[in-house]
Amino acid sequence: MKKILSVVGARPNFMKVAPLHRAFEQYKGPVSHQMVHTGQHYDRAMSKVFFEDLELPQPDFYLGVGSGTHAEQTAKVMVEFEKVLVEQKPDLVIVVGDVNSTVACSLVAVKLGVPVAHVEAGLRSFDRTMPEEINRLVTDAIADFLFVSEPSGVRNLRSEGVPEEKIFFVGNVMIDSLISYREKARRSVIRKDLGLGGAPYMLVTLHRPSNVDDKQSLSRILAAFERLANRTAIVFPIHPRTRKMLGEFGLMDRANAISSLKLLEPLGYLDFLSLMEQAQLVLTDSGGIQEETTYLGVPCLTLRKNTERPVTVEVGTNLLCGDDLGVGVEQSLAILGGRKKAGIVPDLWDGKAAQRIAEIVISKLYS
Ligand code: UD1
Repeated sequence: MKKILSVVGARPNFMKVAPLHRAFEQYKGPVSHQMVHTGQHYDRAMSKVFFEDLELPQPDFYLGVGSGTHAEQTAKVMVEFEKVLVEQKPDLVIVVGDVNSTVACSLVAVKLGVPVAHVEAGLRSFDRTMPEEINRLVTDAIADFLFVSEPSGVRNLRSEGVPEEKIFFVGNVMIDSLISYREKARRSVIRKDLGLGGAPYMLVTLHRPSNVDDKQSLSRILAAFERLANRTAIVFPIHPRTRKMLGEFGLMDRANAISSLKLLEPLGYLDFLSLMEQAQLVLTDSGGIQEETTYLGVPCLTLRKNTERPVTVEVGTNLLCGDDLGVGVEQSLAILGGRKKAGIVPDLWDGKAAQRIAEIVISKLYS
């Protein structure tokens, strides 16, 4: 029997590993699949609720590393993950996405001679000020199997000289979860609970350091909400980082004063999916939400100058509005007024990415 360990650490990892776990469960016998949770995200709303919503079993190993500077967090994950690997001696480590846990566990595994598979490989924003870009570059440089979600990922890896036999275009595991849970999410009562009824609303998520760790930038975001507030309800589940910064910059009262702005705690997977599917517009700086809105055909404005997921702009419903909130407000008003960018679903975003990955992994482990 071959032993596979998948790593989860932060919120966007859970919905990527859930379909992989289910796919490997079908091969129980030839493989055992276990999960390691690094504890990078630890609040109930940032972690546990996703295990419940995605019907994931409890992780087999919990490293409890928590927050810290990048060096502290990465180092703590490495030290704790090394102990698990030395004891468990898996045949393969699977890492997903681009968070600090992804790069930390890849480094440990490769140095212990354990092969690494990176799911969501090859994405590049070409912006090295983003911590995630560094995590992506390093992970892809050392991983053995690179599972890619969109054509740009294949192009990027080729142009970096990655050998062809390491690259597998398999589609998008995050969309696997969306397809599996869309019906269940439709039964969420979140809109009723928020008093939205059938009223139109805009959904917002913002947590990138470049947007929220700077007082001027956060103030500009609130000014944009003030301009949009008389046109639409604004639903904003706040990431802990963003809440902390609103408090530190003394901006909480200004945010609370915007009458149609609903500031919420972070939401679970099903409630958020339900809100996303029915939104008139989503404003975000997240990576995954650009993909989910493209799949759902919901207009998305991304408050960033670049995206590592260009297919969402090329064929999907995503528009980049840079960091110019003036442009963002104008684009929002146009969309709220009915001017919507049409989109199509990218290739292989069909709910079967995890199955493809499992088949490839098993054939490689037994070759
Ligand atoms: C991390 C990822 C980012 C991903 C995001 C999704 C990195 C470099 N960044 O960013 O790519 O898009 O997760 O959410 O890995 N905190 C809590 N409770 C928690 C987790 C965090 O209060 O459960 C607070 C802490 O004060 C912490 C801060 O949020 O210092 C930031 O957390 P951290 O994991 O460092 O990065 P994120 O901003 O969440």
